[in-house]
Amino acid sequence: MTRNILSLQVPFHRAAVGEEEISAVAEVIRSNWLTMGAKTLQFEQEFARYVGAPFALAVSSCTAALHLALEAIGLQPGDEVLLPTTTFTATAEVVTYFGARPVLVDVDPATMNIDPTDARWRVTPRTKVIIPVHFAGQPCDMEEVIALSESHDLRVIEDAAHALPASFRGHPVGSICEFTAFSFYATKTLSTGEGGMVTTTNERCAERMKIMRLHGISRDAWNRYSSEGSWRYDVQEAGYKYNLTDLQAAIGLVQLAKCDAMCAARKRIAERYNAAFSSNPALQIPTVRHDRQSSWHLYILRLRPQILGFGRDEFMAALKARRIGTSVHFIPLHLHTYYQRKFGYRRGDFPNAEAQYDRCLSLPIFPSMQEEDVERVIDAVEEVCQIGQTAPSVADAR
Ligand SMILES: Cc1ncc(COP(=O)(O)O)c(C=O)c1O
Repeated sequence: MTRNILSLQVPFHRAAVGEEEISAVAEVIRSNWLTMGAKTLQFEQEFARYVGAPFALAVSSCTAALHLALEAIGLQPGDEVLLPTTTFTATAEVVTYFGARPVLVDVDPATMNIDPTDARWRVTPRTKVIIPVHFAGQPCDMEEVIALSESHDLRVIEDAAHALPASFRGHPVGSICEFTAFSFYATKTLSTGEGGMVTTTNERCAERMKIMRLHGISRDAWNRYSSEGSWRYDVQEAGYKYNLTDLQAAIGLVQLAKCDAMCAARKRIAERYNAAFSSNPALQIPTVRHDRQSSWHLYILRLRPQILGFGRDEFMAALKARRIGTSVHFIPLHLHTYYQRKFGYRRGDFPNAEAQYDRCLSLPIFPSMQEEDVERVIDAVEEVCQIGQTAPSVADAR
């Protein structure tokens, strides 16, 4: 009882897992092969088919996927990598592993995706890579990104941690550029608890990443304890321990089979939110361009504090008091201590990202949300919007 009173009425996220995932994991446990094996290979094949990629490698996280892709293209100390400031630290952190420099780019104020015009302006002779992040699940303008990459000979690694499934002009994310990195973290649209996938069109890089994800030892090392395997292996490079396990892959296979249905459920929630909030002058609903499909990983609501009479933090606190879970995506990287200390970024450097950050919050959007959960969120948002309008003004109080 006490727990019910204290817990959130609508949490920010609830994992879409159940009996099917439990059975799949139980089957792996009974098989007695727990780490990377047949299930992981099956997951890679089915995932590659789903996104239309020639090669897919299952890894322990999206961070590992981004790291392996940068390693495969041979990023060097002093190289520069363009990426949006509105992202999670993982996108930039992997660049620093190489002694290379994350060059932050401002975002398009409508979509909060990387602004290709600002990116172009920041290119130098040292720029080697661009990492577009498909923020909240909406693909970036990939035509612009590809044009920039071609004109300056840049490699493209898409950060699709939010974007499964999503598409740009009918092309699924994962089939568009040379590399794409996906996340299966606990809150993501396909979750294995922790996990990720890197897809590529480059066979040579696929081979390299396959070796590097497992200590740099020859490609079938994972198989060395099976009856078909061999104890003999060769260490070709100093690699990483980035493999996925069959326990995780079993969950991933179940989740992949319902990925479209889960996306459709999130889309319905987004449409319901849009319908409820679009005519409220204090609120701004997400902008999704007509030529792309979002995964609707996040529903980003933006506030107009001058109309509301108060700001984002107060808005979130008022929703919390009504037991609605929310979050903020993201505190722009240039506002964090590390990026300021190490690379000299300052508040004021990226005005669009800052302006959107100051007034955005993420509402609950997950497939198992019931109609009444969605209504509760809408009612709470509308109620909170009234606070500023009904609170006595200074003049009234006199
Ligand atoms: C945009 C973005 N990129 C990368 C990551 C890292 O994903 P993972 O936790 O799978 O390493 C995240 C995780 O939240 C993310 O939001």
